[in-house]
Amino acid sequence: MIVTVGHTKGGVGKTTVALNIAIARALNGRDVWLIDGDRQGTAQTAISIRADRNPGISCATYPDGHVLRSQLQQQVQKFDDVVIDAGGRDSTALRAALTLSDVLVVPFQPRSFDVWSLSQIASLIDEARAVREGLRVYAVLNCADPGEASTDNIEAAEAVKDFPQIDMLLQPLRRRKAYANAAGQGLSVLELKPADRKACDELITLVECIFNTNSTLKGV
Ligand SMILES: Nc1ncnc2c1ncn2[C@@H]1O[C@H](COP(=O)(O)OP(=O)(O)O)[C@@H](O)[C@H]1O
Ligand SMILES: [Mg+2]
Repeated sequence: MIVTVGHTKGGVGKTTVALNIAIARALNGRDVWLIDGDRQGTAQTAISIRADRNPGISCATYPDGHVLRSQLQQQVQKFDDVVIDAGGRDSTALRAALTLSDVLVVPFQPRSFDVWSLSQIASLIDEARAVREGLRVYAVLNCADPGEASTDNIEAAEAVKDFPQIDMLLQPLRRRKAYANAAGQGLSVLELKPADRKACDELITLVECIFNTNSTLKGV
């Protein structure tokens, strides 16, 4: 399956989410290719840091949309899953990725500015669906306030309702140091020690929703 993690906005957690999804799938025995579509190469750097660690994740950086598209077409058969971190602007990489993806995951944060920026991605989705029928699109609330009583998710779900192109996944990722600490070491929260169980549970549920699978992921 080809999953793009994308948004026209920077700093919403695209790289963090892409890295965690890619590693979670690899921990589940899948051959995973992570494509970094951002010139800044943050995902590629994270993978380099874990170079000696299992599971290994193949990674390439293709900020140019044309190159990304043709490399993806040539090599997709070699992998079980491809996860694309599509960069922070309305980039050619994001557009190219969308025309070949099965799923677009859109992380966004619980502030109105981020909610408004969903309208930008909604136009890109319309464009992509003209050539990629069946592209599924999931908005995921990231950096939600910790604490069960938070109304963030309810408000966000309401906002996403304005965009029929986008489904809201009910599992948010909350603001937890574990996500930042893990990514800084090239790890997923499933590999971090000591483990943050809540972060692990959030990620496992998120991955199951995205890949629509009930298989158990190994938390370490
Ligand atoms: N759920 C989270 N909890 C805590 N920190 C997070 C979370 N998601 C992302 N971050 C932090 O927010 C910053 C931006 O995340 P990043 O994944 O680099 O965003 P993007 O790729 O969209 O620019 C990073 O410092 C990252 O560690
Ligand atoms: Mg990034």
